[in-house]
Amino acid sequence: MKSLILILFSLSLFASEALFDKHCVSCHFKQHITFEQMKAQRQHIKAPPISVVMERMKEFIVVKVDDEDVQKAVITAFMKDYILEPSIDKGICHVNCYVQFGTMPSQKGKVSLKDLDEIVSWVYDNY
Ligand code: HEC
Repeated sequence: MKSLILILFSLSLFASEALFDKHCVSCHFKQHITFEQMKAQRQHIKAPPISVVMERMKEFIVVKVDDEDVQKAVITAFMKDYILEPSIDKGICHVNCYVQFGTMPSQKGKVSLKDLDEIVSWVYDNY
């Protein structure tokens, strides 16, 4: 039974990653790189890699409660809102990021809310 649960759990992680691949990877590549490494290759990419995006989210959105679940809930709520209604006013990407890549196009209607929940949870846990 335990191994069945483990298999199902791994399958669901795999499914979340597949959703990221379907909806996000065409712009945000998945390799873990630092901000400095990104600067060296930014002419060749369409958007900041997701490792750089997530590092920025975790650095700038600070919750004054020492509770990882609350932290995750607040950050992923920001991400979901941004992905559906992006704008430079609420974004926390570096200003050069907007100059280089432009504002992210809204993904409203392209990804379901259920899939989006899985994607942002997977991104938060893996980066
Ligand atoms: C067509 C290209 C494209 C797609 C598809 C795309 N993004 Fe983006 N995304 C961008 C660009 C460009 C930026 C940087 C500018 C900005 O922040 O708006 C960005 C920025 C972001 C940010 C940072 C927001 C901030 O505060 O500035 C998050 C989080 C993000 N994307 C998550 C995602 C996720 C998750 C998906 C898949 C559901 C996704 N993006 C799909 C192009 C894209």
